Amino acid sequence: MAVVKADAYGHGAADVASASLGAGATWLGVALVEEGIALRDAGIQAPILVLSEAPPGSEKDALGAGLTATVFSDRGLEAIADAAGVLGRTAGVHVKVDTGMHRVGLHPPEDAPAFVERVVRAGCELEGLWTHFARAEEDEPTTRRQLELFTRILEDVRRHGMEPRMVHAANSAASILYPETHFDLVRIGIALYGLDPGGALGERAGLRPALSWRSEVSSVRSLPAGELVSYGHRYGVAGGVVATVPVGYADGYRRGLSGRAEVLIGGRRRRVAGTVTMDQILVDCGDGVVDVGDEVVLIGRQDDDAITADELAARCDTINYEITCGIGPRVPREYEG
Ligand SMILES: Cc1ncc(COP(=O)(O)O)c(C=O)c1O
Repeated sequence: MAVVKADAYGHGAADVASASLGAGATWLGVALVEEGIALRDAGIQAPILVLSEAPPGSEKDALGAGLTATVFSDRGLEAIADAAGVLGRTAGVHVKVDTGMHRVGLHPPEDAPAFVERVVRAGCELEGLWTHFARAEEDEPTTRRQLELFTRILEDVRRHGMEPRMVHAANSAASILYPETHFDLVRIGIALYGLDPGGALGERAGLRPALSWRSEVSSVRSLPAGELVSYGHRYGVAGGVVATVPVGYADGYRRGLSGRAEVLIGGRRRRVAGTVTMDQILVDCGDGVVDVGDEVVLIGRQDDDAITADELAARCDTINYEITCGIGPRVPREYEG
């Protein structure tokens, strides 16, 4: 399963979905009913799992678009069964079991056999049984505990004479580290984008980032050493060229990167000069020769150097997921390959 929620972690859901399906993915995963409907509107016909219960009132839209529902509450099950009845079809559902993430899912998990019985009694098909790991990238005992509990629940469900067609548990980190979590399907998000799920697993798995984020110098000026720039005048330049680049926090270039991040211009690292503004940043280029139109790499490679989403994340105390998910809709996406 290619997890393409949050506009495919900022990469563009419809294009990533098509590329993933072309490369062998058989399922897509989304967080929102709206995300699934947008994929259908883009002509995608593959199975799409909504990774949490559809919000009350959205069940008919979800089933009408051919999305597959996750269920874990009696309210959610009843609403899906009702919507399926109205549409005159049988809903195949995936029952999510909370084995330790404690975000969503059936809890206590030992209720699974009884819940699954209610699924079947409600006229739905038990298409899947699944869970989600809380810290697969960093903690083996917790992951093994979750896996053991999930396996026990699965056996219990089977003992009650019910067989989910599809069992799944693994995210990127678990897929890389624990083959025994693969079951029938793995739900791959961050690794699909060539990014590290944490714990330096990206390197171990030979992942290469799919995304680069580029802009161009839009204006240059020459300023003396110590001249203060941008909002709040919080940064004194080295002296020399200061370049303006038309990207800002409204595009997802986070304000927390102010004065901290570097960009690549002319194959050299240059520091973001002072406060990131809504639409533009300033870059301290010192004695470099920089012209309007020069390429600026915010994430990606230029000559022999590269800036990664992980580097930006480290500079503003977040994770690579949040950096790419945050790249805003007004940044045009272009696809190669
Ligand atoms: C339920 C579920 N499965 C799979 C994933 C994919 O996780 P990752 O991006 O770490 O592979 C996510 C993402 O958060 C998720 O919420």
